[in-house]
Amino acid sequence: MTACPTLVTERLILRPLEETDLDAYTELLMIPEIGRSLRLAADVSRAEAWRAMAQWRGQWELRGSGQWAVEERSTGRFLGRAGLHHPEQDDWPGLEVGWALHPSYWGQGFATEAGVGSMAYAFEVMGAREVFSVILPDNDRSMAVARRLGLTLVEEERVLSSYPDEPHGIWRIGRDEWDESPLRRGRDGSGPLL
Ligand SMILES: CC(C)(COP(=O)(O)OP(=O)(O)OC[C@H]1O[C@@H](n2cnc3c(N)ncnc32)[C@H](O)[C@@H]1OP(=O)(O)O)[C@@H](O)C(=O)NCCC(=O)NCCS
Repeated sequence: MTACPTLVTERLILRPLEETDLDAYTELLMIPEIGRSLRLAADVSRAEAWRAMAQWRGQWELRGSGQWAVEERSTGRFLGRAGLHHPEQDDWPGLEVGWALHPSYWGQGFATEAGVGSMAYAFEVMGAREVFSVILPDNDRSMAVARRLGLTLVEEERVLSSYPDEPHGIWRIGRDEWDESPLRRGRDGSGPLL
């Protein structure tokens, strides 16, 4: 049993990270574009990938938030991770929505779709009043996802204790904006599938 739920969206399954994802997750973190965007060490190891997976699963158990494995429904392929993050860190803005997908699957709206599912869970199941995204100002693709999801830049440069060398932009969406968002309803008007 795990506190991490499974969500089904139009094309994706957001499910708990499993031990069997370790090869694919290690491969994801070793991809240069991913490493550069997330500011990972060039020689990120399988052991570090395993620890990261364990931390995501642990966050679900301890705090009821965390990242999901993103799986393509039609193929069962592991596309990456996406979801929520709320670390125990005083200068973190709050509940964050985030994403990291294998570059082979960029450009198809999968991060946006996972983001909608994550925000639906945050606002409608967890009862969040606001959701943030913490993004480096050079990460154009991630900022574009945030914009598509209706987040706006509320603080241009915050130096966080977890990333002291580089200020991050803080993006935010409030519950009222989510309630009004066209993304909140599925194409058939039934709402996101949880
Ligand atoms: C950030 C990241 C997840 C964005 O991925 P992405 O594929 O660009 O984002 P989306 O899944 O929302 O796809 C949007 C693109 O798909 C297109 N698209 C196709 N179908 C779509 C649909 N149904 N819905 C939305 N967009 C769609 C959009 O037009 C857009 O195209 P463009 O790239 O030509 O502008 C990816 O670049 C990544 O993993 N980066 C490395 C990790 C990282 O930086 N994480 C964030 C740290 S803050």
